[in-house]
Amino acid sequence: MVFFPPAKLNLGLHVLGKRDDGFHRLESLFLPIGWNDMLEVVVAPDVPRGEAQFTWTGLDIPGDSADNLVTRAHAMLAEKHDLPGLSIHLHKVLPMGGGVGGGSADGTYTLRAIDEVCDLGLSTQELMELAAQLGSDCPFFVQDSPALVSGRGEVVTPLEFELPLKDVWVVVANPGIHIGTAEAFSGLVPRDRTTDWTRLAREPLHAWKDIVQNDFEPGACERHPEVAALLTQVEEAGATYVQMTGSGSTVFGLFMKEGAARRAAQLVGAGHCGPALRTQR
Ligand code: C5P
Repeated sequence: MVFFPPAKLNLGLHVLGKRDDGFHRLESLFLPIGWNDMLEVVVAPDVPRGEAQFTWTGLDIPGDSADNLVTRAHAMLAEKHDLPGLSIHLHKVLPMGGGVGGGSADGTYTLRAIDEVCDLGLSTQELMELAAQLGSDCPFFVQDSPALVSGRGEVVTPLEFELPLKDVWVVVANPGIHIGTAEAFSGLVPRDRTTDWTRLAREPLHAWKDIVQNDFEPGACERHPEVAALLTQVEEAGATYVQMTGSGSTVFGLFMKEGAARRAAQLVGAGHCGPALRTQR
C-alpha cells in the first residue's frame, strides 16, 4: 500500500513560554500542502515477524537509519503488537531540517500505514498518543487537515473556519541552510499573547502579517541573511503574504494568481509551487 506523507506550512508560529518539562508552549495554524514524500508498506513473507526491511530512494537521509522516525515508528508498534514481517520503502522528496515537517509526516504516516496494512484497528486517539511520543510536530499528521496546534504540538484542533485560500497559490523555497531546533530556540525570547486565529478567515491575505508572525523568523534572518534575502525575493516576485515556516529555513509566499506564482517559483528556484489548499488524497 502506498501513502503520501505531506509537507506542512505554519501560518504563524507563536512561542508563548517555557513549560516545566522544558518544552515551549506554542500556537500555530498548520496547513498541509500538496507536496509529498512517498511511503510504501507491504507485508514481506521473507522478513521475520516483528521486523521490517527499510529501503529508501530520492534525497539522501543523513544520520543513522535506526534513528529515523520511520524506523522508530515501526519499533514502537512492533513492541506492542504481533506484526508480520514488513517491507517499508520511503521515497524522500521533502527537504530535511527545513521546517516543512517531512520527517514528522513520514513517522506518523508509518504508524498509520502499519495500522492499516496490519489491521491493528488503532483509534485516532491512540495514533495521536503514539505520534506525540515520536515528536512534537507528529500528532498533526494523524488527520492532516488544516488545524490549530497548541501545547507542545500535541493539541490539534481541526479548523472550524475556512481560510480564504481558494484559488490562492503557494510557492515554497529553501535556501539550503539547515537550522537545528536547538539553534532556533536559542536566543528566542517567548512572547505570551492571545491570538484570535479566526481573523485569518475574515481578513485579506495582505493584512495577515499584523495578525500572525513566525517568532523564529527574526532570529533566523539575523543569523542567516540568505533567509531574509529569499523572503524579500519572494515578496518582490509578487507574493501577497510571505513567511518562514517552522524553525526554518524554508520560506513560502502566497500568490493570488497562478501565473505570478509560477514565474516566482522559477525565479527563486522553488521546491514546490501549487494550490495552497491541497485536494485530499
Ligand atoms: O519534539 P521534538 O523532537 O520535535 O523537539 C526537539 C526539541 O525542540 C526539543 O528537545 C526541545 O528542545 C525543542 N522544543 C521545544 N518546545 C516545543 C517543541 C520542541 O522547546 N514545543
